[in-house]
Amino acid sequence: MTPVVPPGVPPVVEVTTDATAAGEAVATRIAALIRTKPDAVIGVATGSSPMPVYAALARYVEAGLNVTRVTWCALDEYLGLPPHHPQSYRTVLEHALVEPLHVDPAMLRVPDGTAADPDRAAGAYERFLAATGVDLQILGIGRNGHIGFNEPGTPFASTTHRARLTESTRKANARFFTDAASVPPECLTQGLATIMRARQIELIAAGEEKADAVARALYGPVTEQCPASVLQRHADVRVTLDVAAASRLVSPSGHR
Ligand code: F6R
Repeated sequence: MTPVVPPGVPPVVEVTTDATAAGEAVATRIAALIRTKPDAVIGVATGSSPMPVYAALARYVEAGLNVTRVTWCALDEYLGLPPHHPQSYRTVLEHALVEPLHVDPAMLRVPDGTAADPDRAAGAYERFLAATGVDLQILGIGRNGHIGFNEPGTPFASTTHRARLTESTRKANARFFTDAASVPPECLTQGLATIMRARQIELIAAGEEKADAVARALYGPVTEQCPASVLQRHADVRVTLDVAAASRLVSPSGHR
C-alpha cells in the first residue's frame, strides 16, 4: 500500500531564463558552500540536467575557487558497464567534473557498477555515505518523477540499492547510447532515504518535458508513485528551473 501523506514544506523555487542560467544559479550557491566549508561533501547527479552546473563550477575554479578538499559522491551508476565505458557515470563525471575542475580522481566516489556482488557494493556505498554525511545533493528529475534511479514505487525508506530502470527511462536515456536496448537495465542508486539525509538539496530541471514531473513533485500528493514528491518532506530543498520546466507550476493556492 503506497503511503500518501499531506504535502509538507513547499520547496523554494527559482525560475531562470534557460538551462545555462539555471546551472549558474545552482553553481553560485555551491561555490558559496565550498567557500564556507572547503571540505564539503557534494552529491552529484549525471544525465543532462546538471551539466550546466558543472560547467559553471569549472568557471569558478578557473577564477580561483579551491575545490581540492571537496568530496564528490555520485548519485548512481549503471550495472555491468565496463569501467571505462563512455556512458558509465564514473566516466561521465570524470569528463564533466574531475577534468574541468582539476579534481583529484580519488575525491570522486562512485558506487561500483562492476562489482561481482552488486548488493554488497550498494551496502558499502551506503555505509560510506552515512559515515561521511552529504552536505549538498544535486538532483535532476525523470519525466516519471524519478530521482536517482528510484523509479515510481520505490519505498521512501530505501537506502542505496540495486534497481531496475523502467522502459521509459531506458528510452529517455537512449540518446546517450546507440539505442534503448544498449542502456543497461539495472543500476546501483542512492535510495530515497539516502538522498533525504543530505543537509541541502538542489534539484535542477529544464525543458517542457519535465514540466509535469516538476509540478507533481512540488505540489502533488507525497506518494511513492512520484518519488521526487518525498522532497516536500525535506526542510532545505531548492528547485531551479528554466521557464519551460516551470510552465505547469500552480502554487498550492492555485495561482501560477
Ligand atoms: C542521473 C539520475 C537521473 C537523472 C534523470 C534526469 O544521475 O540519477 O535521476 O537526473 O533521469 O535525466 P536528464 O537530466 O538527462 O534529463
